[in-house]
Amino acid sequence: MSTKLEYSDKVVDHFTNPRNVGEIKNASGVGTVGNAKCGDIMRVYLDIDDKGFIKDVKFKTFGCGAAIATSSMATELVKGKHIDEALALTNKSVMEALDGLPQVKVHCSLLAEEAIHAALWDYAQKSHVTIDGLKKPKSDIHEDDHDHDHGEEEE
Ligand code: FES
Repeated sequence: MSTKLEYSDKVVDHFTNPRNVGEIKNASGVGTVGNAKCGDIMRVYLDIDDKGFIKDVKFKTFGCGAAIATSSMATELVKGKHIDEALALTNKSVMEALDGLPQVKVHCSLLAEEAIHAALWDYAQKSHVTIDGLKKPKSDIHEDDHDHDHGEEEE
């Protein structure tokens, strides 16, 4: 019996040297999500300019190595992007950018996606803007709530 999990070099890199760790004071939007099953929590801070571009992004993750690696990669992927592009980021694209994750760690990447959505939601509320396609985030994320290719199922 083997319990060995295979992690790509990119996952190991982002876990051992995570990018964008920290917080942003007076952030435009802050999103916190957790997974009650594993107890992990992720918080994302966004600094958004008046044209809707993400000038800076930081995260804090109280979670496993895959959660840290996916938050690190997800923040890299949305940095400098427009909020519409950030909204389109899926856990699948984060996993692809990391060259994959073991199946039992897929839920960790959902935290990263949802934390960004939650931060966008907070920004939209605070700034009284509407972001097309943005839905009210859940604070507790379960893998069963999502299809892994959920980009198509959500309009
Ligand atoms: Fe829960 Fe990774 S084990 S986020």
